[in-house]
Amino acid sequence: MKLGLTRACFGCRPICYTTSLPSSTLNKPQIPIFLRPPAYSATSLDLRKWHEWAKGLAVSVGSSFADADNGPDTNLLCRELNWLLQDSLEDPKHDIRQSNESLMLRTSLDDLYHLWKQRIEQRRPFQYIVGCEHWRDLVLSVQEGVLIPRPETELIVDMAFDEISKNESLGQGLWADMGTGSGALAIGIGRTLGTRGRVIATDLSPVAVSVTTYNVSRYGLQDVIEVKQGSWFEPLKGFEGKFAGIVSNPPYIPSEHIPKLQAEVGRHEPTLALDGGVGGMDYLIHLCSGAATMLRGGGFFMFETNGEEQCKLIIDFMKNELAGRFCNLNAVPDFSDIQRFVTGVRR
Ligand SMILES: C[S@@+](CC[C@H](N)C(=O)[O-])C[C@H]1O[C@@H](n2cnc3c(N)ncnc32)[C@H](O)[C@@H]1O
Repeated sequence: MKLGLTRACFGCRPICYTTSLPSSTLNKPQIPIFLRPPAYSATSLDLRKWHEWAKGLAVSVGSSFADADNGPDTNLLCRELNWLLQDSLEDPKHDIRQSNESLMLRTSLDDLYHLWKQRIEQRRPFQYIVGCEHWRDLVLSVQEGVLIPRPETELIVDMAFDEISKNESLGQGLWADMGTGSGALAIGIGRTLGTRGRVIATDLSPVAVSVTTYNVSRYGLQDVIEVKQGSWFEPLKGFEGKFAGIVSNPPYIPSEHIPKLQAEVGRHEPTLALDGGVGGMDYLIHLCSGAATMLRGGGFFMFETNGEEQCKLIIDFMKNELAGRFCNLNAVPDFSDIQRFVTGVRR
């Protein structure tokens, strides 16, 4: 996970719900704006006034967020403003500069003012504002309490696809996505498996379980993906030695780095999804040990890390502490050529 956010690229994260919604509401999946019915009307003149006001706020930001913590600058905020407008219009291609007709919206004009104030004044992530993230070929629902999936994590699905293409039996087996968040990896791999295999997606967070269940059903994968709540391998009791594949992008940010994260991440994304303990390795080590027990012979694992040093530590741990249990251990680079993932095969 890199430490910043855009419609296709972000920053990193703790649990600090700045919203005043009650926790029962937070656990319910929120419908992304673009999927809501066009139940509100506004004139294009009023929408233009909102757009001018919102653009003024975006321009006032300049490079101040970027200078402070690598946050969004005016250019990016203006792009986000146009995406918010498109998601809100019944017809996303409608040009609001034309005439003064009445338009149908998927969220009210009052909400649009409120949401954009949150974006600028609270640095609420754009993805939480619109309620979704474009990730690979998916549009996933996201909300407070669930990590916004990052572009580099897409590579895990590509690697799973490559392994399944080379070894048919992996595609017919059982896979696990540990710490599924929005369900991104489970859904990406579930679509690769089709009806041949199955995925179990687990998460400790009830919000993540609820959002993943919603995303799984939106993609019609209920027969392929089972969503279970619980801590790491605890919901997988009884499946020891049964998995053809295990993937995870666990919390791996060292606790000491959390206070320095970009505001969108540090103030709004869940600490539970970010904080990997002192040094960031607590959960990765737990997952490595669990993979030795849960994978079948020939089973494949892929874990995302904070990069470089964590990859080396994991490979050393597996070679020394889990000696003889794994082969083909590799560190794999991300789009920026940083060693980001560790992969290996259970002997
Ligand atoms: C970095 S996020 C990854 C989310 C998603 N897989 C992705 O790549 O977008 C880590 C996830 O691990 C979950 N998690 C944290 N502690 C956990 C635990 N003890 N057991 C299971 N999941 C946990 C968090 O709730 C979060 O959804």
